[in-house]
Amino acid sequence: MTPTPTSTKTLTLPRPDDWHLHLRDGDMLDVVTPETAAQFGRALIMPNLVPPVVSGAEAEAYRSRIMAAVPVGLDFTPMMTLYLTETTDADDLVAAAQSGLVTAVKLYPAGATTNSASGVRDIDKVMPVLEAMADAGVPLCVHGEVTDPQVDIFDREAVFIERVLDPVRRRIPRLRVVMEHVTTSDGIDYVRDGGPDIAATITTHHLFINRNHILAGGIRPHYYCLPVAKRETHRIALVEAATSGLPGFFLGTDSAPHLDSAKLAECGCAGIYTAPNTLACLAQMFEQHDALAKLEGFVSGHGAAFYGVPVNAGTVMLERVDTPQPVPAPRSTPEGMLTVFDPGVPIHWRVRT
Ligand code: DOR
Ligand code: ZN
Repeated sequence: MTPTPTSTKTLTLPRPDDWHLHLRDGDMLDVVTPETAAQFGRALIMPNLVPPVVSGAEAEAYRSRIMAAVPVGLDFTPMMTLYLTETTDADDLVAAAQSGLVTAVKLYPAGATTNSASGVRDIDKVMPVLEAMADAGVPLCVHGEVTDPQVDIFDREAVFIERVLDPVRRRIPRLRVVMEHVTTSDGIDYVRDGGPDIAATITTHHLFINRNHILAGGIRPHYYCLPVAKRETHRIALVEAATSGLPGFFLGTDSAPHLDSAKLAECGCAGIYTAPNTLACLAQMFEQHDALAKLEGFVSGHGAAFYGVPVNAGTVMLERVDTPQPVPAPRSTPEGMLTVFDPGVPIHWRVRT
């Protein structure tokens, strides 16, 4: 599909995919699922529930709960992941993938982020499972940060590449890997130079914010996420990669809802809720970089190609408007309010529904 030229007021894209999404469970699932389903055709659903989604049976049950939260008439398919633990049953994992139930497996280094306590402490313990995944063609999605307290939080992605990711890929070159929510030029370079079996997702918020947004002039908990936003040079590298048209980079929002009460706390949770305004923000960013023609690949094409699924049949229409659009209002959930991402710049795009 040829994108509409930038001079016109609308841009019609194949229904996009979100290749990294947190939907949670219970009341929160009911609130956030319709917001993604309204705009996206598919999303890769993260498994970091409490307890995590470890087995094929758990993924099947979670998929049913998600489908029950999708409003009737919306064409939305959740693509499921399993949470890798040191006791993951490789046979169950491969069977779940081969049946089509599960699309990928998520590696959380233990302690790296929200609900990662059941994650991997010693990568050697999961090598047999990774071998089985490589044989079966099941991609590994990695949260690419070391948890070593000696390593500065701003260096944890670069050190993960050096200490964990590159050694694993050398030991199992056939393993297909997605570096999730890449935040550094180190990550971008590694993926760009890594050939067709490694890709990276890029979030919306990491294209807009750097670490000053979190810390300068007051601490802003709603900009706190993991991996934490880095310095401006890294943000620029992310924008260049996202707008490059290279097939190894695609959208994974990491939209990660937490109640305001959990964000605005003495020890606030990591995660930014971007699902409602992601597409509008991305259109703004791509337009600003004269790259609207590359938006389709980033949100609708490259991820589908990596995961070996067809581009979605339906479309979504984005509309450019003269008046900047307000940041979506906080969402009300039965347990409290949920704040939506504020990109901090005027957004002149909206999804036409
Ligand atoms: O900011 C984040 N929030 N990063 C993650 O890796 C997890 C996510 C969440 O689940 O809240
Ligand atoms: Zn995530």
